[in-house]
Amino acid sequence: MKNELRKFDFLILGSGIAGLSFALRVASRGRVAIITKKNRAESNTNYAQGGIAAVTSREDSFEMHVRDTLEAGAGLCKESVVRTIVEEGPARIAELIELGMKFSEREIPRTNGGRELDLGKEGGHSKRRILHAKDVTGREIERALLAAVAAQPSLEIFEDHFAIDLITTQKLGYAMPSRCLGVYVLNRRTGVVETFAAPIVLLATGGCGKVYLYTTNPDIATGDGVAMAYRAGAPIANMEFIQFHPTCLYHPRAKSFLISEAVRGEGGVLKSLDGREFMDAAHPLKSLAPRDIVARAIDSDMKRSGADHVLLDITHKPARFIIERFPNIYATCLQYGIDITKEPIPVVPAAHYQCGGVLTSVGGETEIAGLYAVGEVACTGLHGANRLASNSLLEALVCAHRAAEKISAQPPGPIDLEIPGWHSGHAHNADELVVVSHNWDEIRRLMWDYVGIVRTNKRLQRAQTRIANLQAEIQEYYWDFIVTSDVLELRNIATLAELIIQSALQRPESRGLNFNLDYPEPNPEWAQRDTVLQKSR
Ligand code: FAD
Ligand code: SIN
Repeated sequence: MKNELRKFDFLILGSGIAGLSFALRVASRGRVAIITKKNRAESNTNYAQGGIAAVTSREDSFEMHVRDTLEAGAGLCKESVVRTIVEEGPARIAELIELGMKFSEREIPRTNGGRELDLGKEGGHSKRRILHAKDVTGREIERALLAAVAAQPSLEIFEDHFAIDLITTQKLGYAMPSRCLGVYVLNRRTGVVETFAAPIVLLATGGCGKVYLYTTNPDIATGDGVAMAYRAGAPIANMEFIQFHPTCLYHPRAKSFLISEAVRGEGGVLKSLDGREFMDAAHPLKSLAPRDIVARAIDSDMKRSGADHVLLDITHKPARFIIERFPNIYATCLQYGIDITKEPIPVVPAAHYQCGGVLTSVGGETEIAGLYAVGEVACTGLHGANRLASNSLLEALVCAHRAAEKISAQPPGPIDLEIPGWHSGHAHNADELVVVSHNWDEIRRLMWDYVGIVRTNKRLQRAQTRIANLQAEIQEYYWDFIVTSDVLELRNIATLAELIIQSALQRPESRGLNFNLDYPEPNPEWAQRDTVLQKSR
């Protein structure tokens, strides 16, 4: 098939909250391609449960939301970024509602049928401030955004299109400052690698939960955006801070099903198998402490007891309330034979969120001209060493808006450089599938066992050596054979593993989500210091 150059004004990689919000904001300014590797709704966004944190109640304040975010971030957040995102949140939420998003509401007490937004609570929040659509907030966000996108003729969605690599002036050997010119994309339906060009490219590819054996993330979360940006020479920050969600359903048939922190926000209590409420001794906020603390306490309770899970108990609440507030969690658990109104839920921690990422300003700018990054793929400084629950959907909304504003204030010049098509190997490898799936499993298990909730230098070094060997092998068949999305994802999770390990080895302290037994305390010299990795260009 002929490989034509497809030209647009904007290329957006990813169709979660970050990519779609940005798309809607630039729709009136030119032709926009949204490239997404599976179907359009498949994203971390689609599975978000708890909701979006924003100050909308009179009992709350920006100051309190800022303070909670800084506290959870364990000294590493950039305060000016936190303030911007918190203060601009309510306006972005209002726009989302205007667009058609339906948040859950409740009756206002003592009014004649008056209604207001229902506010949930989650770990580390001092107030009720989580806007939600029952326990399927992400599904409702995707529905509303995709409906709005469908109404815009300038927006074109390319499903089953897998972004392989960024095209930069540097990569093409032009002697000029690095600028992003486009992307090579594998059309998974035809197997052809297509060339897309645009003066603005937005990375909105989400996180990397699939680097770990156990994760709450869907299969798309293989860290492709961070890997692409790293290969293109962009700085990557704070990758050691991988957030483990304390409560993923523990059941042999359940793949990646989250039990929202909102369950604890409504009174759910963590217990060991013998009924002990072990969070009482771990933190004054007990089961609602920040996530890093809860995940470590569960890990430690499981190691102490030898059990392979703990329990989350909300049976003391009325069944009607549980079913009404958490219909999806109730129905899903029931499918597995667990009636959460009558019995505690077996849960374990699982990899959930990437706090680091491509280093950006709060307006999504990266160090490479024309390349922006927004959402989980980016590291703006909001989350520091541990993200406060429900702050990531908020960050994506605010930063997508800011990035679009920035671009309209300073539009880029057109691209008048020649962009060659993709060159790939031609061989098919009969062994490839088994090798790919073996290497994939090996990386994910290695990361779970050696680079998990509790780390040591020795385990990190071991993991580093093993990943380097695997990378050499992956590199060999990457160049020799026709590319497939399996090989591309494998190459990317190996890069992500390398970045996480290298970042963890560089930080000689325990802070937030990076807990290392060789340095059990925070080191004041590392407060406010990011771990930045950059490939020499
Ligand atoms: P995503 O929504 O993950 O979208 C990424 C997109 O990029 C997808 O469309 C994907 O297919 C595409 N993509 C990836 N790689 C490629 C490639 N190579 N080529 C083409 N396309 C590609 N956060 C909150 O704030 N509140 C919550 O309640 C909450 N609950 C959560 C529950 C779960 C189970 C999970 C997994 C996460 C939750 N989070 C929550 C985190 C939050 O959902 C994510 O951080 C956020 O949705 C990320 O949005 P995004 O647009 O950056 O990425
Ligand atoms: C949850 O519902 O527990 C997830 C919230 C989040 O990750 O922010």
